[in-house]
Amino acid sequence: MENVEKIPTHIAIIMDGNGRWAKAQGKDRCEGHIEGVVSVKACIKAACKRGVRYLTLYAFSTENWGRPQEEVNALMELFCKSVTKETPELIEQGVRVRIIGRRDRFSEEVRERLLHIEESTKGGDKLTLVLAFDYSSRDEMVRATKAVAEKVQRGELSAEAIDDSVISAHLDTADIPDPDLIVRTSGECRLSNFLLWQASYAEMYFPQTMWPDFREEAFDKALEVYAQRERRYGLL
Ligand code: IPE
Ligand code: IPE
Ligand code: MG
Repeated sequence: MENVEKIPTHIAIIMDGNGRWAKAQGKDRCEGHIEGVVSVKACIKAACKRGVRYLTLYAFSTENWGRPQEEVNALMELFCKSVTKETPELIEQGVRVRIIGRRDRFSEEVRERLLHIEESTKGGDKLTLVLAFDYSSRDEMVRATKAVAEKVQRGELSAEAIDDSVISAHLDTADIPDPDLIVRTSGECRLSNFLLWQASYAEMYFPQTMWPDFREEAFDKALEVYAQRERRYGLL
């Protein structure tokens, strides 16, 4: 591992398989989510250790609201509790937290906590941890399109001036480089509405590992897989 030369600047992970992991152990789905938090912490640590600069984690999709209310509540609570609890350690590790996705469907309490986490970790310069929470790529693109259209309507931007960089700058991920590697655990091979624009030239890796089992060793394996890839960007 020590001699892996090509370390991705940005890894984005679709953390999947918590429910199946729990079921296989005869446990409640929520126990899978709780165990998944341990993997989150392990991957943040591993990312810092290996010099990855951006780590994006898909924590809750806009479609996940359609799950049973009990599971949605448990996920909201777990998310808030974990980020609040981990904030001091994140600061110590030099991690800056940024949250992408909608904010308008959370309770006031959740919204405030999210703001607090972003504010209190903004000095972190080792790793940017991007948490996608009530996020979906299409929703993000619709919001970005509206923002661009409003600027055109107000005369602040001409339609001719709209290019790749204008679109990118209006996405939630503005200023964040595109992911070099997208990992989805649990063996599913789909993006499920995650970073569709940003994934244009990302390498994809779909390990069978369920998210609660995805710890440092699995993270390092992903780095090794990435190092073997040849990226061509349409060139020869
Ligand atoms: C991922 O695990 C966590 C979230 C989507 C919030 P799942 O809950 O989707 O677990 P599976 O896919 O049912 O095993
Ligand atoms: C994607 O996982 C969303 C997150 C990991 C947060 P899902 O389990 O919700 O996706 P599908 O339903 O299998 O596509
Ligand atoms: Mg799933």
